[in-house]
Amino acid sequence: METAHSDPRHAHACPGHATAEADAASTVDMRWPEGGAARVPYRVFSDEAIYQMEQQKIFRGPVWNYLCLEVEVRNPGDIKTTWIGETPIIVTRDDNGVVHAMVNRCAHKGALVVLKDHDNKPSLTCVYHAWNYRLDGTLRSVVFQKGVKGKGGMPETFDTAQHRLQPVRVAMVAGIVFGTFSDDTPPLEEYLGERITAFLKRNMDHPLKILGTHSQMIHNNWKLYCENVRDSYHATLLHTFYTTFKVNRLDMDGGIILSEKKWHHISYSKRATLEAAAEYQDAKVHSAQYNSALDGPELLKAWEGFDDQITHSIQTIFPTLVSQLTLNSLAVRFVVPRGVDKTELFWVFLGYETDTPEQEKMRVMQANLTGAAGLVALEDGCINNFVQRGTHGSADVNSFIEMGGTLAESNESSRATEAAVRGFWHGYKTIMGFHE
Ligand code: FES
Ligand SMILES: [Fe+2]
Repeated sequence: METAHSDPRHAHACPGHATAEADAASTVDMRWPEGGAARVPYRVFSDEAIYQMEQQKIFRGPVWNYLCLEVEVRNPGDIKTTWIGETPIIVTRDDNGVVHAMVNRCAHKGALVVLKDHDNKPSLTCVYHAWNYRLDGTLRSVVFQKGVKGKGGMPETFDTAQHRLQPVRVAMVAGIVFGTFSDDTPPLEEYLGERITAFLKRNMDHPLKILGTHSQMIHNNWKLYCENVRDSYHATLLHTFYTTFKVNRLDMDGGIILSEKKWHHISYSKRATLEAAAEYQDAKVHSAQYNSALDGPELLKAWEGFDDQITHSIQTIFPTLVSQLTLNSLAVRFVVPRGVDKTELFWVFLGYETDTPEQEKMRVMQANLTGAAGLVALEDGCINNFVQRGTHGSADVNSFIEMGGTLAESNESSRATEAAVRGFWHGYKTIMGFHE
């Protein structure tokens, strides 16, 4: 895969790049409570200074941030806008097929250069004073550089090669484009670890087709979503649709896999026992718990795309990416922090180019399980806000996260554990430098 490994030295020379003083100013001196990753101080969900520190330490730190899917910049001239933390980002594919990422901030006076979600153009032009950039972010031309009728214009010393859109390192795996600001971020597959990379490829390393996208504003700190999506304990308690219709229950075979560094995880379950399969062949799907039936039972008639019997999986990549394959609903989600208590959650629903029309229809139908108005995931948007409100004003109180013990380690015999939640907090406190 072709990637643009931009010269990091230039990033530090760019006007507006964070200085050491700014880094120091945004450091919060906080002790993490005793108990390690099994305790989380509620302060981290509502403290403005910690939020600012995260922008530096995490989003501009040694992590690979989700940028977009490769299919969104499939052709030369394709442009996609996104964010790393609060920083607006442009992803492009140039005429040589190389994918680039850069900050969406004009090198002149800082205006957004690309205003659309996606576009296709031979170059990038800032609307303010029409500075024009190549698709790799280098500056091509400046209007009135030589002045008008010999008067005005840029100084003789002005050199277009000294000004460009601030580059971001790019790497790709399984059709996903990641970016990082930091020179210290390890190579992508090393960052992800072996099992996380392999499972990402299982679900995503196919010719992808975008079936639809949507986004929703959720009224909670971004980390509450990251925590919630790693929380296999809640899934079958809060989401009664899962248990009622046996999509995902804790008594099914399944497990939790944490990456080597514990930052990322996979939660999986296997629905396809003979007994369950027979039940779902039935014209009406009945629930033992609620005696409910679906008018459209075909919603849950999934086909098995893999030979490992896994029918439900949620995978996270620290900090903000989620990949899901729930029955046949394949999607990526990612969160963008919009303030200490506001987060935008984006969903991209996917199929494979090789899907039959019936399979594509099934995936679209099963997209109704998740999303803002879905049958399952709508509760998460609510519950995270309940935590945001419940913890407000309790900066010195800590959560208690000991289901399945206090360690953050894989458990392939049970999902009645908060191990992946502890894995997230282990990563968070490490990268933020919070010590007990
Ligand atoms: S701010 Fe972009 S050209 Fe002036
Ligand atoms: Fe949930």
